[in-house]
Amino acid sequence: MEKQRHNLLTIVHGVAVFLMVMCGIVALATDQAYAAGDTIKVGIITEMTGTFADFGRHIVGGAKAYMKVHGDTVAGKKVELIIRDTTGPVPDVAKRLAQELIVKDKVDFIAGLGFTPNALAIAPLVTEAKKPTIIMNAATSIITTKSPYFARVSMTLPQVTEPMAQWAFKKGYRKIYTLVADYGPGHDAEAAFKKAFTKMGGEVVGESRVPLKSPEFGPYVQRIKDAKPQAVFAFVMPGEMAVAFMKTYNERGLAKSGIKLLSTGDVMDDAVQDALGDHALGVISSHQYSVAHKSPENKNFLAAYSKFDPQRPNFMAVGGYDGMAAIYNVIKQLNGKIDGDKAMAVLKGMKLNSPRGPIQIDAATRDVVQNIYIREVKKVDGHYYNVEFETFNAVKDPGK
Ligand code: PHB
Repeated sequence: MEKQRHNLLTIVHGVAVFLMVMCGIVALATDQAYAAGDTIKVGIITEMTGTFADFGRHIVGGAKAYMKVHGDTVAGKKVELIIRDTTGPVPDVAKRLAQELIVKDKVDFIAGLGFTPNALAIAPLVTEAKKPTIIMNAATSIITTKSPYFARVSMTLPQVTEPMAQWAFKKGYRKIYTLVADYGPGHDAEAAFKKAFTKMGGEVVGESRVPLKSPEFGPYVQRIKDAKPQAVFAFVMPGEMAVAFMKTYNERGLAKSGIKLLSTGDVMDDAVQDALGDHALGVISSHQYSVAHKSPENKNFLAAYSKFDPQRPNFMAVGGYDGMAAIYNVIKQLNGKIDGDKAMAVLKGMKLNSPRGPIQIDAATRDVVQNIYIREVKKVDGHYYNVEFETFNAVKDPGK
């Protein structure tokens, strides 16, 4: 009896071990099928809902526009976008999404990242997983130093701000007030403007920082008016916030009292130019992209983007478009076999013909090198545009 029981237990044990081994083999086989699969997955972490939903609208629209022009198959692999919503600058959500994309979805690349706090939050995760990550917008200088697996195709605030300070001084401005969004990129813009402007002999006569979300611009704009500067240099969030700022700037009569507005292109967001209307006429800004940029690449980009969105694209859409160009180049170079370190080696030094002009990913810093244009808002054929009139060539992030 005891012997029979023992035999039965041995058989049950044997079957269990057999099943476990089989499961392991199946799991391994599935994994291998995955690794050798026909799909390259790109996880896009961006803002799809909430106050900043336009960030995701543009980044994803730009990425899809690139795929529209270049097809969705590279080196025999189908490229799939997996889009995940951060809902805004919420680092904990960004971290959870990155974790899920890496572990559950097993993405080959991470991309997107509209907001600096979200990009910073995922740095340790992408480093640990060796996941090549393309920053399509987030623009605080320090970001690319936080992971060797970050490469940026967008801009940095110091990169676009320094040329504005230099242009302003050259044009005779000497007393300028700065107003920035109160977080990483705003602090970068404020510091870069002050450093460049005062080095040349200009004076920053006042500095204001406004909350990132839903600022009430009235008191800030009044303070600028009372300080009587020759100009104000501003960086606030594109979209709704830029419109709110411009409205207050005009209601409080700053333009009428001769205080010139100089800004980064974030404030003179292409997507809301027509909504700003006459309020923004004559505003000077510095940035890497204008819808009005004249080139065959931009023409192609605008035609493709219009298939996804009736609204004009802006610089974030170009970030999405160029980010996908970078990813396609990596897939081609690695013949569809994505390895984190090899992908980064391909990204370092990569040159692209962007809708904004030529760009390069600096081999040493993995940050973008690009032309920065000085532009003026003009009305052309019934619509408002940032018309480029001066170029600073191949500008690097001055913070590095
Ligand atoms: C950022 O969070 O880095 C950021 C967001 C929007 C901008 C620029 C920078 O327009």
